[in-house]
Amino acid sequence: MRFLGINAIFHDPAAALVVDGSIVAAAEEERFSRRKHGKRPLAFSAWELPEQAAAWCLREAGLAPEDIDAVAYSYDPSLVVQRPDGDWEDLRTKYAVRAPAFLATALPGLDPGQVTYVPHHVAHAASAGLASRWSTPGRDCAVLVCDGRGENVSHLAGRYRDGELEVLAAQELPHSLGLMYEDVTEHLGFLRSSDEYKVMALASYGRPRHLEALRELVYPTGDGGFRVEPVDWGGYAKALRKGASWTSDHADLAASVQARLEEVLLELASWLHERTGERRLALAGGVALNCVANTRLLAEGPFDEVWVQPAAGDSGTALGGALHLAHAHGEPAAPMPDAALGRGFTDEELGAWLEVARVPHTRPADLAAAVAAELAADRIVAWFQGRSEYGPRALGRRSLLAHPGHARNTERLNDVKGREQFRPLAPMVLESRAAGIFGRGPVPSPYMLFVHDVHPDWVDRIPAVVHVDGTARVQTVSPAADPLMARVLAEFEARTGLPVVVNTSLNTAGRPMVDDPRDALECFGSSPVEVLALGPYLVRRGEVFAS
Ligand SMILES: [Fe+2]
Repeated sequence: MRFLGINAIFHDPAAALVVDGSIVAAAEEERFSRRKHGKRPLAFSAWELPEQAAAWCLREAGLAPEDIDAVAYSYDPSLVVQRPDGDWEDLRTKYAVRAPAFLATALPGLDPGQVTYVPHHVAHAASAGLASRWSTPGRDCAVLVCDGRGENVSHLAGRYRDGELEVLAAQELPHSLGLMYEDVTEHLGFLRSSDEYKVMALASYGRPRHLEALRELVYPTGDGGFRVEPVDWGGYAKALRKGASWTSDHADLAASVQARLEEVLLELASWLHERTGERRLALAGGVALNCVANTRLLAEGPFDEVWVQPAAGDSGTALGGALHLAHAHGEPAAPMPDAALGRGFTDEELGAWLEVARVPHTRPADLAAAVAAELAADRIVAWFQGRSEYGPRALGRRSLLAHPGHARNTERLNDVKGREQFRPLAPMVLESRAAGIFGRGPVPSPYMLFVHDVHPDWVDRIPAVVHVDGTARVQTVSPAADPLMARVLAEFEARTGLPVVVNTSLNTAGRPMVDDPRDALECFGSSPVEVLALGPYLVRRGEVFAS
């Protein structure tokens, strides 16, 4: 049977397709529309659908809208408790109620009667519990979802048994760990519902000196839920305007909120472990993109294993919704094979794009060796290979790569991308070599959702990927999962002694990640990237533009 999942209600609109229990395609609308996060999370944007992503999912599978057996919409307007102040919420609810008709307009041939509302947090939970590597029958797990909000709650704690979700706790609004983090994100001059990871990075520069005060305001309630009392952020640090310079007060506030978030998550996890006795925990919801908190959950929490959905934010609810419906129809769930669920292009298609743009290029006999040589010569490489990633992390399909041994490469890459200089860059490492270089975090760590300590002997050898607190957000690469990237890493080690390269997402400031060949050429043409590896082809800046 064929199940289409749609996320559209808040932000990161996305679509996913599950056919006969297997995940065939999943993609975020921003990669098509070229508008970061697809849209702003406002009530009056709730009607906007992931039209292009959904149409592509169908094309990828060779299906027409009428071939779909059921559509999951990852928000259930019947669960919304209307607030008495008559705010914009009623508009969001109205749009959600009309979503089946909107979908039928966007995808002509689709039967609006086939659209099923899946509660937002159930869709998040399924994106973790039914997509994790434990999702085969009999392999059960606990599941914890934390985000800004869904219909009326901001959290779900439960367990999966043979694919069936049992909900054990759900925290009602307005109490929300995700909204608390969004509030402090805005207070620190960043964009809420978007830049929360910058607060996490900033936290490493501060001391959690307000932790005791926050413990009074943000606390678990012993029943699996929690409270977030109103917080006067200005009492801890002055509000920052966008782009304004932060001080130690701001870093201390970030550190305090981050530390309190970690403590509360640990208590929620302990409660869930006591209730379920499970060994494994699956995580989703935007808060699960906080890799520092994930690492503490794994290191100090009661669960032996933690799996995080790489599209843990709202985009992942498209996949979760489809998996939830598939299970409800008796279809077996296959684990998520990889995050590379988006668009891919044949060598011929890529070559045709280069011909159309009249871009000089070569086709090296050994691409991995050629790219490793460019990286060893300290050139920045735009790397475009295979299917694009589902979720916010570049995982070696649409990446910018660089030499990790030169500290100034942090600044070079942050300049290419218009990133703040306090933000760290992440390393990619051969899975087999990770243990000797990185500690504490798990290995393998294929989705870059945990942080690791860098072994003291290696800090000075790979300075471009070591954060101010001595950690690194590692992605491990195995030859089985990504043979080409594994060979680049091995070839780079042969030349430099380092089985590590810098990996950051392939995009320029304010843009979504590159997805198709035109995006790649536009990015290459508008930023000081020196080499573009577009499938098997290599494009060198000096051969394209006069220097
Ligand atoms: Fe969510």
